[in-house]
Parts: sequence; C-alpha cells; structure tokens
Amino acid sequence: MAGVDLMSGTSHTPIVKSLVWPDETATQLFAAALAEQRELRNAFIELHGDLGAGKTTLVRHLLRALGVTGRIKSPTYAVVEPYELPGLAIWHFDFYRFSDPREWEDAGFRDLFASPGLKLAEWPEKAAGFIPRADLVIHLEALEDESRQVTLSAQTAVGMALLQAVSHGRPPKHQVGHARQDQHEDRP
Ligand SMILES: Nc1ncnc2c1ncn2[C@@H]1O[C@H](COP(=O)(O)OP(=O)(O)OP(=O)(O)O)[C@@H](O)[C@H]1O
Ligand SMILES: [Mg+2]
Repeated sequence: MAGVDLMSGTSHTPIVKSLVWPDETATQLFAAALAEQRELRNAFIELHGDLGAGKTTLVRHLLRALGVTGRIKSPTYAVVEPYELPGLAIWHFDFYRFSDPREWEDAGFRDLFASPGLKLAEWPEKAAGFIPRADLVIHLEALEDESRQVTLSAQTAVGMALLQAVSHGRPPKHQVGHARQDQHEDRP
C-alpha cells in the first residue's frame, strides 16, 4: 500500500523520547509546556505507569495550566471526569475499574472519544480493544521519591507535533524534561 497510514500501526515508526523529571516541579513544567501546544486541543494522550507513578499528578498540573480552577478529582471511581473550558472540552479517564464492556457504549465513551477536545486516559490497558489509538503515549516510572523516568511515544502526526514541541521548544523559564543523570548517580 502506498503512503504512510498513521492508523495502521505497522507502516509508521513511532517517535520515542526518554526524559527524567527530577521532581514534581519538572512534572509541572512539562505540563505547562504541553498546555501551550495548539495540537493538544484535539488530542488523545494515554498515561501508563504503576499505582503512584504520577499519572493523575501530571493531569492535574496540565489541567491547571490550561485554566481549570475547580477541584480536580481522580476519576478512579467515576471512570471519567469532564471539564469544560472556553472553546475546549476535556475528558480525564481512569479505566482502572473498567470491567464491563457494555459500559463502553452505555456510558457514551465511544461518543466522547469521537468528539473534539482533549482526552487523557490513565490505565488505558484496562480498556484495550475499545479505546482508539492514542496520539501520544506517556509511560511514567518512579525512580525514587520524587524523580520519574518518562518515555514519550508519538503514534500520530498530532503526537509527533506534541512530542517535538515539548522536547525542544519553548519551555517556560528553563529547560523542561532535560535529563538530569547527575542527580541519580549522586543519590545517597
Ligand atoms: N516528579 C513527580 N511527578 C509526579 N508525581 C510526583 C512526583 N514526585 C512525587 N510525586 C508524587 O507521587 C504521587 C503520584 O500519585 P498519583 O495519584 O499522581 O499517581 P497515579 O499514577 O495517578 O496512580 P494511580 O494508578 O493510583 O491512579 C503524588 O503524591 C505526587 O505528589
Ligand atoms: Mg491516578
């Protein structure tokens, strides 16, 4: 087949970047840089990582940077928490407790994923087979109390634009997500 089909998963090589966030401020700065990207306004981002890896924390910093002012709850029980900003709909999913495939249709998740806006999903692997292909996949791993190993994988053109913008461009104030190996080699 001619051309590159971003949806097939076979003819497109994903772009992957690894970073270390030494502390939660680095997580916050990354979220702030991501929030500035126009492509984010119609993107689907998957967040992978163990319990406590920092998925909800990253989403909270991102939503704050986008302008959400009210309480930001973890959607662990509700599965989805919606947010409405001027000109931007956001859905924060946590599929940890997703088990009944009928819920996908009944709760209208198919329609939400098909709507314009920002979709963020924790534990997407629990809804594998239902969930559409993500633009950007973020893997978080806790290395020590506050530091996080981060892997970003772009799976679409939107994901590539986001990844490139947050890896090279326009970080607020100082470099975001710059690998800080020195801090890890020095730990007591
Ligand atoms: N660099 C960091 N980035 C993100 N969170 C951090 C960082 N350092 C420390 N933390 C802390 O780690 C905890 C991460 O919890 P969080 O609820 O975000 O995890 P989670 O991945 O969403 O877990 P779950 O799978 O239970 O939903 C928070 O208490 C947060 O303050
Ligand atoms: Mg969480």
